[in-house]
Amino acid sequence: MSNYETLSLNQLKKNSSASNWSGGMQLLETVVSTQEEAKRLAESGAPEGTAVIAEEQTGGRGRMGRKWHSPRGKGIWMSVVLRPKLPLLLTPQLTLLAGVAVCTAIRRVTGVQAGIKWPNDLLAGGRKICGILLESSLREGGLHYCIAGIGIAVNLTEEDYPDYLRGVGTSLLIQRGGIPVDRSELAGAVLAELEYQYNLYMEQGFKPIRELWESMSVTLGRQIALNTPQGRSEGTAVGLDDNGGLLLKDESGHITNVCSGEIEII
Ligand code: BTN
Repeated sequence: MSNYETLSLNQLKKNSSASNWSGGMQLLETVVSTQEEAKRLAESGAPEGTAVIAEEQTGGRGRMGRKWHSPRGKGIWMSVVLRPKLPLLLTPQLTLLAGVAVCTAIRRVTGVQAGIKWPNDLLAGGRKICGILLESSLREGGLHYCIAGIGIAVNLTEEDYPDYLRGVGTSLLIQRGGIPVDRSELAGAVLAELEYQYNLYMEQGFKPIRELWESMSVTLGRQIALNTPQGRSEGTAVGLDDNGGLLLKDESGHITNVCSGEIEII
């Protein structure tokens, strides 16, 4: 007997029923990483919007080579194939787009007022609730496809976190004072919202996504520290540049564009 509510493909499909994406969904029990499964499907020609969702990942991965804790039946561990016709330089915009889509779905379905920390973390109550990993595959120097990996801590209790994540990560259940979330409903809503924002982006460009991102940001206007392999710098996050990078203003008023790295809100 499982002590969690299993994901239901029917329920998932019902909750993303407005979708025009024809790739379908694969619901799997245990995988190393849904990123690898989605990549395999993309390589064999799977269409845009093909989604892979797993109950558990044994080798879930995050940005910068980190592990992604993905216990069975507690989260949404999902990867989606995208085939945008975009210059490589603009792929960071897709990360922000995915953040907007997931944040919108979380707020609507669960009532938790998540916010987006640049570039791709969703926070609730000051702790991380979701991470997004956008991986691109290149062919002949151009973009071939992207895999948008989404990890949402849905029904984890404090005991479900390993020591290194205590005080850093939180879940929707914890933020709702112990009230669990229907994972199939939320995953369906995330997919529907991802498709909606993606179509908006393809029709109207980055502007509407940027405005939504800014309205959901917990980074803008804040004093932040940026950690890169070159060192640490501090400043105020004053906006996004046209590619989705963060504009950081230092004490002397000088503004730099940050296109990658890890920030800390201080
Ligand atoms: C991060 O914040 O570092 C990004 C985390 C992304 C985790 C998701 S879970 C589904 C997909 N499969 C993975 O192995 N990683 C992503």
